[in-house]
Amino acid sequence: MWYHLYDVAFTPTEHQQELINRINALKKEKDAIVLCHNYQRPEVYEVADYIGDSLALCQEAAGINARLIVFSGVYFMAESAALLNPHSTVLVPDRQAGCALSDMITAKALHEWKKDYPDAAVVCYVNSTAAVKAESDICCTSRNAVDIARALPHKQLLFVPDKNLAAFVAKQLPEKEIIPWQGYCPIHERLSPEYLLKAKEMHPNAEIIAHPECTPEVQAVADHVVSTSGMMKVARESSATEFICTTECGMIQRLKKELPHKSFFTVCSVCFDMKKNTLEKILSSLENEEFVVEVPEEVRPGAQLAFDRMFDLMAATDDEDRARRARKSFGVSSE
Ligand code: 13P
Ligand code: SF4
Repeated sequence: MWYHLYDVAFTPTEHQQELINRINALKKEKDAIVLCHNYQRPEVYEVADYIGDSLALCQEAAGINARLIVFSGVYFMAESAALLNPHSTVLVPDRQAGCALSDMITAKALHEWKKDYPDAAVVCYVNSTAAVKAESDICCTSRNAVDIARALPHKQLLFVPDKNLAAFVAKQLPEKEIIPWQGYCPIHERLSPEYLLKAKEMHPNAEIIAHPECTPEVQAVADHVVSTSGMMKVARESSATEFICTTECGMIQRLKKELPHKSFFTVCSVCFDMKKNTLEKILSSLENEEFVVEVPEEVRPGAQLAFDRMFDLMAATDDEDRARRARKSFGVSSE
């Protein structure tokens, strides 16, 4: 776990700039779009057509009209893009860039577990495989988990795979019985409230922003618990000029890039899977049109339904409309 101040704007080296130029030229030549998660390396931001959190990247992927999408993030994100956009070929620069949290549950284990709860709906965090999504009733992301869970007509919800996001949702929805799968993100799990409180002592005017994958103890000392793009929104809209951000270390580089006039401190740890994507690998991915992401055909319809339900609820005008849409989607009458 690291604590540091990030106050230097990123400037690519000469070698990086050369790679950036080659990638940008190849993108045009090959009709390709690069999607990039907020945790990527700062030099990778320079070739991105879109940078965002999981929800924004899903929404963006669904609407892309290009021959190739290069997804610079981790595998479940690229798999979601391939599912949501069957017309483009989705490539990942490194096939080994996985997500330890998404690996903490299998479709088979979920299939068995849910037999014990016949009245529950299964809410699946997007950090999961398409096979797990296909065993679930609806998807959610760190940005919309509370809204989705609140809208469902079911009182009992099985929440997979992240126990910390589940705890965050449960705290805000005491009317629901939320039963968590015991998965967690090892990167966020190791962030401690003690370090945050020490950082706060040093920077008493700073607002603490935490990701909901952090433990409930960390969430309890934070002023804001939000998705990675939510962090950007909070920092942009708050009148505060100093922030202590606790999540994956790359996030403050992104915050500093967008909000150079504000100060960001971080208590963070590194997701080495996210960092497997480099400019060299993105260039090679474009040159060789590899590694192609395939969604197993047998799980496609189920995973698509879980996403469709999420997008339908996200299109609602307010909580009431969302609850009405959820009842309709699950065939529950309003009586
Ligand atoms: P966001 O959806 O908030 O970007 O989170 C994704 C993630 O993997 C965080 O560890
Ligand atoms: Fe997965 Fe955690 Fe890395 Fe996010 S930070 S991609 S949840 S391992």
